[in-house]
Amino acid sequence: MKKRKIIIAIDGFSSTGKSTIAKELANKLGYLYVDTGAMYRAVTLYAMQQDFVGKGYINKEKLIENLQNIDLKFEYNQKLKFSEMYLNGKNVEKEIRSIEVSKLVSMVSAVPEVRKKLVEQQHKMGAEKGLVMDGRDIGTVVFPDAELKLFMTASPEKRAYRRYKELLDRGHEVTFEEILHNVEQRDHLDSTRKDSPLKKAPDAIEFDNSNMGLKEQFERIYHMALLRIEKNA
Ligand code: DC
Repeated sequence: MKKRKIIIAIDGFSSTGKSTIAKELANKLGYLYVDTGAMYRAVTLYAMQQDFVGKGYINKEKLIENLQNIDLKFEYNQKLKFSEMYLNGKNVEKEIRSIEVSKLVSMVSAVPEVRKKLVEQQHKMGAEKGLVMDGRDIGTVVFPDAELKLFMTASPEKRAYRRYKELLDRGHEVTFEEILHNVEQRDHLDSTRKDSPLKKAPDAIEFDNSNMGLKEQFERIYHMALLRIEKNA
């Protein structure tokens, strides 16, 4: 019998390794993977380019007025085996991961009109199910009926160290202190904003990976996913 596809929602604090797990899970299950953080980052990059946002300021009116001019698309990269983010036709995968974008993204993602636009797109991507989506509000707001919900956590220091190494590998110039500060600041802003704050859905499974390697994490989560798919058949 053909198995019915499910939606897997992975939420959690920044740099908890959500996207690494989500990507691998989607590849193994033959599901679509959507990194919603990349969408908020791309809108932030656009707002920076237009000078609608910068250190300590945001021009919400201008940003809202121009939302219609932002076209976001994911395109699958066969070589890298994941979908890259395109902003108005341009591949912005590297730029959206910069520390400059990380510093401003929480301000932009707190704007309800921005969230509304992106959540609409996210709903469309999940219409056929067979989806692994990661972010902050996927299990609470975007897909409250997702069949499997995970909430990932780890200590701020562990998360900052992971992000620091990742950025150095990608050729960004950053310090560990700068990243730790950014991680802590985003935790605070993302969990205290009014619209769709980061919080664990009551039916989400909490997963602390401070002391767990990638392989073990993946095996446990893959097992949970198979059980859910089986139950859904
Ligand atoms: O997952 P990430 O660190 O790349 O996400 C970047 C920012 O985008 C994060 O600090 C908050 C915001 N975000 C959000 O508000 N809602 C989501 N579903 C995903 C990300």
